[in-house]
Formats: sequence, structure tokens, C-alpha cells
Amino acid sequence: MAESKPSDASTTRRSSSWSFGLLVLILTPVAAAIFLYQLDSFDPASLPTHEFSQEPMLVPKLNPRMLQGSEMIGQGNLLGPEDIAHDANSHLIYTGCADGWVKRVTLNESAANSVVHNWAFTGGRPLGVALGRAGQVLVADAEKGLLEISGDGVMKLLTDEAEGLKFKQTNAVDVAVDGMIYFTDASYKYGLIEFIWEILEGRPHGRLLSFDPSTQETIVLLRDLYLANGVVVSPDQTFVVFCETLMKRCTKYYIQGKRKGSVEKFIDNLPGMPDNILYDEEGHYWIALATGTKGLWDLALKYPSIRKVMAILERYIGRPHIEKNGGILAVDLEGKPGAHYYDPELSMVSSGIKVGKHLYCGSFVKPYIIRLDLDQHAARTIT
Ligand SMILES: *[C@@H]1O[C@H](CO)[C@@H](O)[C@H](O)[C@H]1NC(C)=O
Repeated sequence: MAESKPSDASTTRRSSSWSFGLLVLILTPVAAAIFLYQLDSFDPASLPTHEFSQEPMLVPKLNPRMLQGSEMIGQGNLLGPEDIAHDANSHLIYTGCADGWVKRVTLNESAANSVVHNWAFTGGRPLGVALGRAGQVLVADAEKGLLEISGDGVMKLLTDEAEGLKFKQTNAVDVAVDGMIYFTDASYKYGLIEFIWEILEGRPHGRLLSFDPSTQETIVLLRDLYLANGVVVSPDQTFVVFCETLMKRCTKYYIQGKRKGSVEKFIDNLPGMPDNILYDEEGHYWIALATGTKGLWDLALKYPSIRKVMAILERYIGRPHIEKNGGILAVDLEGKPGAHYYDPELSMVSSGIKVGKHLYCGSFVKPYIIRLDLDQHAARTIT
């Protein structure tokens, strides 16, 4: 059967006007994007990527689906439980939440029977929490500074500036046996709600600090850190380990002995961006990785131009959701990786600690603490 076909000429005409339309459709946003890119004054910096370790990190044991079998603690009553401090005597967990409360969680074998209490209201955004030696809780509050809350809930501001520079994002805290408090200010430039700009800009505005309760003195130990985040005192009290989120690394800073004041690599080339680091009293540090970095994030850390495009998207369209494979990396006392728990569906994991047979994970955004039974869902050797 013969079909009537349009003439060749009209096909050409139609397809050429169609391709012209397509060209306009494509080029208009491209031109607008180039215009915005040129016009935008945001000027991200190159990171010192030559400091990144070249060797890939090999982790002997993995659980790449840690959400399978995990339970939710305090669902709905724990908004953005960022950091976790476990009190072994009372079996309570302290955590700082997005509603301004430092909460206390009474743990129970059954996740559903774990009870959340509002304990102390900071009026800011409590992030880091650490137990003092006399029943007090130290809080790194992103908005308020370094706080101390006594056992009966009375709050005191310890410090909120150093060397004339106010903290903009007090982030993490730990206490040495001698009472010295170590803490970080992630950035003196960007506050917590602007933290993405610290990442996109790629300049070091972070500091590692100490506060001496006996002299009330705040001392800057290190400056020019790339989003100074978690900090933990080593069990032998000779150094602290602190995380730099943007540099995907954790570094030792010696606080005792003849190396006092010097820094040394602890672990780098992490498989994600580190947040808090906690010690489990059993020979392992647990490093929370807010997001895996494979793919776009690694490119973004490498190329400022990609971060500029992300900044423009952030400003005019919104943040694309590219965070995934967040989780927890367990490393030994020497910084050697042992096990990596993560999940493609997981992002903004901000802390993790093993208590008994369970791994407890805090999150910057989720409304609960994640608990995983490590006997049942252990990381395994992948062959
Ligand atoms: C766990 O919760 C149940 C129910 O509230 C309670 O009976 C039990 O004593 C709790 N267990 C512990 C160890 O607190």
C-alpha cells in the first residue's frame, strides 16, 4: 500500500526549524548560566590537593548496607542529634539537637522503649557534647560558643572568641583527664546554616582551640583548618585527633611530651567527608563520614570551577541532593582502618560510637539516632 509522504523539501524545512528551536532551547539556559557564572563574584579557592594521599584506602571489612537491620532510637523526639556522648555509669546518651535542647536518652534493649528527655536548653544549636570529670557536660554550640552545663542543668558560657575573632561555628569538644578542654570552631567566616559555603569556597577558616577551666584561658592551637570538625583526646592523653571535613583527613595534634604542639598525619584519603570522631574505650576510634565523596564530590574538591557552578545552583535553584554513602569508619589506635559501615541511602551522618554490641549514629538532619546490632550486622571481608 502506497502512503502519501510529505515532500523532501517540507521535511527539511520542518526539521531545520525544529532543530533551530532546540538550539535556542539549549543555548538560552547555557548562555544564562555562562552569564551568571561570569557575573557571580563568588571565588572558590583551590584546595591543597597535593596533600591528599595518593594511595587508595583499603578497608578490610565492609557493611555497605548498614541501614538494613538498623533501628531508630527516639524517633520524632531527636531532631538532628549531631553528636553523641555515652555515659557508661548511667547508660545515658547525651546529644545536641536542632531545637536547641541537649537531650538525654535512656537506652533500652528495645529501641522503642528508649526514652528521650529534654535536659538543658541552650537557645542555640548544640553540636558537640562531651562528659566532664565532675558530672558536667561540655557543649560546642554552633551559635553560642563553648558551654558548660552542670549535672543539675545550670548553663555557663565558657568562651566564644579567641585572639579577637569570634567563633562562628563552634563544632566539637572533648575533655582530657587533666580537665583541659579541646574544641573546634569550624569557621570564623560562615555560621552553621551557611556551612555549605565554607565547603564551596574552600578556604581555611577553622581553628583548633583549648580552654583551661583553671585559668579561664582560651588558646588557639592551630589555625587555617579546612572546616575544623570532630576532636577527640587519645586514650593515653598524648594527643588529640581532629577532623578537617574538606580535606577528608584526621590529624594528630600532640598535647603532651616532647612532641607537644606538633602535628602528624593520623589518617587521610578518607572515603568520605569526616564529621565527628569518638573513642569507644575498646581500642577504636569511630569517624563519622557525612557523605561519601566518590564521583561529584571528589571532583568538586579538586576543581574550584565545579564548586562555583554548585554555588550558583545553590543560590538560584537549590542544592542538588548528591550526598550518599554516608556512614562510619572504625580505625585502630594507629589510624589503621578496620571496618566501614555505610549505605547508599545515608547522608549527613555526624557521629558514631560503639556501645556494647551496638553502633549508635547521630545525624545532622534525621529525627532519630540510628542503632545497629554489630553482632548481627558486622562488617565483613569482601572477596
Ligand atoms: C526496658 O523497657 C522496659 C519497658 O519500659 C522496662 O520494663 C525495662 O526495665 C527496661 N530495661 C532496662 C534495662 O532499662
